[in-house]
Amino acid sequence: MTVIEISSFGGPEVLRPAERPKPSPNPGEIVIGIKAAGVARADTLQRRGKYPPPLGASDIPGLDVAGVVDTVGESVDNFSAGERVCAILAGGGYAQYCAVPSCQALPIPEGWTDVEAATLPENLFTVYDNLVTRAALRGGETLLIHGGSSGIGTMAIMLCRAWGATPIVTAGTKEKCDACLRLGAAHAINYRTSDFLAEIRTLTAAKGVEVVLDMVGGAYLKKNVDALAPEGRIVIIATQGGATGDLDIRKLMHKRARVMGSTMRARSPQQKGEVAKGLLRDVWPLLPAKNPICPVIDAVFPLAEARLAHERMEGGEHIGKIVLAVQ
Ligand SMILES: NC(=O)c1ccc[n+]([C@@H]2O[C@H](COP(=O)([O-])OP(=O)(O)OC[C@H]3O[C@@H](n4cnc5c(N)ncnc54)[C@H](OP(=O)(O)O)[C@@H]3O)[C@@H](O)[C@H]2O)c1
Repeated sequence: MTVIEISSFGGPEVLRPAERPKPSPNPGEIVIGIKAAGVARADTLQRRGKYPPPLGASDIPGLDVAGVVDTVGESVDNFSAGERVCAILAGGGYAQYCAVPSCQALPIPEGWTDVEAATLPENLFTVYDNLVTRAALRGGETLLIHGGSSGIGTMAIMLCRAWGATPIVTAGTKEKCDACLRLGAAHAINYRTSDFLAEIRTLTAAKGVEVVLDMVGGAYLKKNVDALAPEGRIVIIATQGGATGDLDIRKLMHKRARVMGSTMRARSPQQKGEVAKGLLRDVWPLLPAKNPICPVIDAVFPLAEARLAHERMEGGEHIGKIVLAVQ
């Protein structure tokens, strides 16, 4: 099969087509004939040598795919050959086929194309697990989403709306802010021209927000705590602004607040399977309507041009998810 390899660590040009053996399923796995693969920020970090795959995972980049079940391993009882599925992977998505524990796959929702379905796994597993399971976001609450126009951010806006909560986002340009508003953000703060903390205080009449979904990390920790309402929760999923920051513990205590963090990639198949069960129960019934959760696709590139997809992502102008079309 054709794959895209990281030939050596470096810029997008190190992504090269190569031939590898087609995988066979181990017990509990399915092999997916990949039709589309999502591109994630993590893939660009892996390409630069800054985010190694977890032990035992494929060295090929790619954390989410959509396609058709090609082969089924022993003791798989949730999917059969020929079914359309999307799945979250620990790696290996930039390829014609991948093997994945069947508990990490979900059916492609009715009315979603393969390219559209490839926008779902990484974004939904991450956003649902952090907002619903960890931060326990409830209807009526207000959520601050940093990086609102990212793949993750756009999904967070839509899931927040589906939950009956109010999303406020930050983004770096007017165009990105406008896109977030069109997706359902109640307010979009351009963090390059405004102080998000001052804006949050004004927008919430000094109360603050109940939940913050943060992908900036250290540089925002102090302000995120300041932006919290009593009993507020911060969930950190990336450290693009540094891995350490100032935490005023007295403020945290006074607000009875919580700061949490998580990563998805290194979790076991069983743990990812638990997230998949929650998604199937709570989110999958919402998807056929494509409202409020719809595909937000910035650009589609052929698999062989993965290099261009990475250039687009690192250029930083994208809004939503970048997808690779396979076969
Ligand atoms: N922990 C996990 O399990 C997990 C899972 C999936 C993704 N993630 C992380 O979530 C983030 C989004 O992933 P993605 O694939 O959706 O990537 P993406 O589309 O490239 O999004 C990155 C976003 O980060 C924002 N950003 C970067 N530096 C910033 C800064 N200093 N201040 C404010 N915003 C900043 C950018 O916003 P502007 O362009 O507006 O500046 C951009 O929207 C990535 O950092 C990724 O590693 C974590």
